[in-house]
Amino acid sequence: MCNLTSKENLSPEERLRLMSSLLLRWYQDHARILPWRENPSPYRVWISEIMLQQTRIEAVKPYFSRFLEAFPDVPSLAAAHEDRLLKLWEGLGYYNRARNLKKAAQVMTELYDSQLPSSYEDLLKLPGIGTYTAGAVASIAFGIPVPAVDGNVLRVISRVLASREDVGKPCVKKRIETLLREIMPCGEAGAFNQGLMEMGEIVCVPNGPPKCSQCPLASVCLAWQQNLQDSIPVKTPKKPRRAEERTILLLLSGDRVALEKRPDTGLLASLYQFPNLDGHLKERDIQDFLESLGSDADEIEPAGEARHVFSHVEWHMTGYIVRLTGKIPSPYLSVEREELRGKYPVPNAFLTYIKLLNGQS
Ligand code: ADE
Ligand code: SF4
Repeated sequence: MCNLTSKENLSPEERLRLMSSLLLRWYQDHARILPWRENPSPYRVWISEIMLQQTRIEAVKPYFSRFLEAFPDVPSLAAAHEDRLLKLWEGLGYYNRARNLKKAAQVMTELYDSQLPSSYEDLLKLPGIGTYTAGAVASIAFGIPVPAVDGNVLRVISRVLASREDVGKPCVKKRIETLLREIMPCGEAGAFNQGLMEMGEIVCVPNGPPKCSQCPLASVCLAWQQNLQDSIPVKTPKKPRRAEERTILLLLSGDRVALEKRPDTGLLASLYQFPNLDGHLKERDIQDFLESLGSDADEIEPAGEARHVFSHVEWHMTGYIVRLTGKIPSPYLSVEREELRGKYPVPNAFLTYIKLLNGQS
């Protein structure tokens, strides 16, 4: 009865119901052991889901443990100092996530007795929580039968249904959410959602060919049966990123280095950076710049090129080590090397230059 022929005419809903039972059976045996899956308290699930947005599992693991040690609960997070919070987030990127965590913890302190609210609708109202994260926390931590649709889930579901609709469109995502809401297995919402994510991360993978011959969903997957797995999901290409040229200055005075705090809105808000200027400048331009600060250099040497890719912009950087004759000029902060390591959050965009400084005496 369950041969391929009889499965050709299933409605999407019937197909997804069959998929659900295959998925749950597979997930029972294949769920990876991950730190946040042990003792999945609402707080731990929330922090992990925020960290996992646009970030690989392996990259998140060490951050998760350090973060939970520093901020073990809602009250400690609500009271976090911004520099310390951002320092713990340093290198993870998308720093608004960290600031929103603190804001949401403050809301929880005021409205929910320092707990996560236990309804999908209230979770959705918190800063930094959209439909995906509200669905993930509601289902994994509270067992509420709501879907959690991220890029992985969009890919798996559109392949299983051989849907050629553009998964970048909000209405397509909504339709998949509505379908999944209909077929959420009773009492197993958390396992269902995590099973789908897991499937998208290790079997029905985003980059490179999906591992259809090992896939537990192959018997219900229309893309596989019609050999469409390489052309689904359909996505309209993103606009190319804008490139910005910057010159990064490592202004050194003895064992001190110049830093400045970025503005509190926009890209990398409130993080610290080395002084930097528009365009790729020459030594002569740097001397002029120092003069405008009332400063002077004993030596200016090239510190190499670096690139950093953000979601909408790319920095093409060229750096200089500048040994100053005198002190670090204002308006910059004069920071000891040790403080640079332990205190000030500096984004990964500057990693090439941080490493260079750490290797310099
Ligand atoms: N990706 C995001 N959240 C996840 C989770 N809870 N399990 C597996 N992969 C995930
Ligand atoms: Fe993805 Fe292939 Fe499995 Fe279909 S059979 S869900 S395309 S891995």
